[in-house]
Amino acid sequence: TKIVVVNGPNLGRLGVREPEIYGSDTLDNLRTACTQWGEELGFKVDVRQSDSEAEVIQWIHQAVDEKTPIVMNPAAFTHYSYGLADAAAQVTDVDIPLIEVHISNPAARESFRKHSVISPIATGTITGMGFYGYKLALEAISNILED
Ligand code: DQA
Repeated sequence: TKIVVVNGPNLGRLGVREPEIYGSDTLDNLRTACTQWGEELGFKVDVRQSDSEAEVIQWIHQAVDEKTPIVMNPAAFTHYSYGLADAAAQVTDVDIPLIEVHISNPAARESFRKHSVISPIATGTITGMGFYGYKLALEAISNILED
């Protein structure tokens, strides 16, 4: 089974950007970790990152068309992108899981981070666990697909 891991804006700056919040590991480290965690679960994991809302939306359309389960860290799009929320809502049409992941715990940060336009359509949300949250998300998808 193929899984797509979609990362939104500024996550290409992992390791450089606010390391006290996001840690010192890079997007490449995340890609390696997700690939390995996926292999352990029998998944082929495709880790992507874009700063472009249009590109992230297109990736969601593609996943819906191909019925590929999604792990998504929408980053700042989480808080305001109704375009991405509308794209993500299509996962229910094809009955694929979409797990929302945040490296930090947005609920413990600035007030604008407390609201997610993605959470209402996500199968579930994992926050505050660092990169480990992506592992939990892959395990959750494995569990969902087994049922
Ligand atoms: C984030 C939290 C968002 O509020 C922020 O805009 C990000 C990263 C996280 O992974 O903790 O870019 O999604």
